[in-house]
Amino acid sequence: MPVKSNAQSPVGSTGGPGILPERPAIVVLTGAGISKESGLATFRDADGTWNRVRIEDVATPEAFETDPLMVQSFYNARRAQLADVHPNAAHIALAELERRFPGEVLLVTQNVDDLHERAGSRALIHMHGELKKARCLNCGAVLSWPGDLTPDSPCDRCRRLGQLRPHIVWFGEVPLEMDRIQTALEHCRLFVSIGTSGTVYPAAGFVWTAGQAGARTVEINLEPGNGASLFDEAFYGPATRVVPEFLARLDLTAI
Ligand code: OAD
Repeated sequence: MPVKSNAQSPVGSTGGPGILPERPAIVVLTGAGISKESGLATFRDADGTWNRVRIEDVATPEAFETDPLMVQSFYNARRAQLADVHPNAAHIALAELERRFPGEVLLVTQNVDDLHERAGSRALIHMHGELKKARCLNCGAVLSWPGDLTPDSPCDRCRRLGQLRPHIVWFGEVPLEMDRIQTALEHCRLFVSIGTSGTVYPAAGFVWTAGQAGARTVEINLEPGNGASLFDEAFYGPATRVVPEFLARLDLTAI
């Protein structure tokens, strides 16, 4: 569970200042379940990543210190997999929502894949980082990194060797853009959580923050998540069916 602060506070969003709304009327949180039907594994389902690989071997700063090659190989394989998958109907429906809603929408994803941006979403925060970026431990640069990362890869900015790590928020680290997300949750009128088990904080607590602020809260998932009782409404089923159906029925003039 992410708890302590990083020395750096790298930008994790794809939208960037000016594109990311300060006080969106709608905040959507997504998790691994939305990308499942595109062919990417979730973490905690029976065939999930954390049932095949130990978190402490690949997803902590200590794992990276102990065995950078193993950690980079794990993320290299996941990064390479992105070439074989495509955004699905749920990603596309969310991008359409951003285009057709006259107010502002902020999409916050726990996912490190790039399927939301490939579907067309722009006001997007990758709170757990991005597979296609690397970060330099020496100069702090966050670099676009579409290919493999090795323990010897040089930083494009400072040229130091062996200082690049995957731009992924590991267990024990603070998710990205939390101040911006907190403000958005405190001002939104609709909060929708899609395809997440509600296991990992702070994302698991977003429903509580939005609900306290008076937002209508909706869970969309294959099955009730851990925080199911905190939501006002729920729709259960595969994201590619339920997300487009929910958004098609949503009265955008009433938000
Ligand atoms: P989980 O694997 O914990 O939960 C995925 C959820 O998606 C489950 O509740 C499934 O029931 C649901 N699901 C599966 N298939 C679905 C489908 N087709 N349609 C809709 N829902 C479906 O994944 P996350 O909640 O995203 O963090 O996990 C949160 C964080 O834990 C991840 O970002 C990652 C992980 O450790 C880091 O690596 C920092």
